[in-house]
Amino acid sequence: MTPETPSFLSGLWQARYRDGSSSRLIDNPVVRTLLSHRSVRHYLPHPLPENTLETLVAAAQSAATSSNLQAWSVIAVEDQERRDRLAYLAGNQAHIAAAPLFLVWVADLSRLGRMASRADSPREALDYTEMFIVAAVDATLAAQNAVIAAESLGLGTVYIGGLRNHPVEVAKELDLPPGAFSIFGLCVGHPDPTKPASVKPRLPQEAILHRERYDAAHEDARIARYDVDANGFQIERGLKPRAWSSTMLRRIGSLAGLSGRDVMKEALKKLGFSLR
Ligand SMILES: Cc1cc2nc3c(=O)[nH]c(=O)nc-3n(C[C@H](O)[C@H](O)[C@H](O)COP(=O)(O)O)c2cc1C
Repeated sequence: MTPETPSFLSGLWQARYRDGSSSRLIDNPVVRTLLSHRSVRHYLPHPLPENTLETLVAAAQSAATSSNLQAWSVIAVEDQERRDRLAYLAGNQAHIAAAPLFLVWVADLSRLGRMASRADSPREALDYTEMFIVAAVDATLAAQNAVIAAESLGLGTVYIGGLRNHPVEVAKELDLPPGAFSIFGLCVGHPDPTKPASVKPRLPQEAILHRERYDAAHEDARIARYDVDANGFQIERGLKPRAWSSTMLRRIGSLAGLSGRDVMKEALKKLGFSLR
């Protein structure tokens, strides 16, 4: 099936939800790009096309931003040795060293803080948790716009939350000023066609979508259905069979699932966020 085939979107729906029903989605190229998303962890060593970085950043800056505060920054890391060090800090994730571009998305209150200092103006609001949330949301929306732009250009990406395993060391590596936090990274590169990634199924819409009021009444059955889909996805890829729910229960069952990130509040304070 090619993107020109009318049933292309139904195929994407089927891959995402595996419910056999044909989709009733509105079809356009952006929807197709979004539904085609998959994280890519195998890259060709080729450099990116000229002006890729500028295009991704323009897409990122086109995202909405709380009160136009633009409380985020991005650091483009191309240097191989720095990518190697960041790969190590993120838990030895080889795709960081392999992808030609690694973008570090920064929840950044430091620019606003510097503006206040230069203007000899108070900065009281910056010390509150709400402002950290604003910066985190801004950085995340910007990054996701860049992901969509990259995927629309035929590139692959994968987010790297592993950067939060060692936030203070990452801040040192990148010379982050106080009030700047590397919230996640993003590998960008040409997907290796010999190791293609697949569209991963998601929970049925009914488990996520509530109408008018929150209703978890039939949640169990919907999650059980998803366990079957997620398990099927694993088996089809020759991976260990595993139900989504048991994986998630293991993930939330103990601090080990936080990969050392149980000290995040202290780390953020060290990085200059008061979180009042
Ligand atoms: C904020 C965030 C952090 C992530 N961190 C990592 C990571 O450190 N390493 C990795 O291989 N994948 C990471 N991922 C990718 C997720 O594992 C992936 O999105 C999820 O399994 C769904 O698969 P899909 O993106 O292919 O649909 C991250 C995703 C997000 C949104």
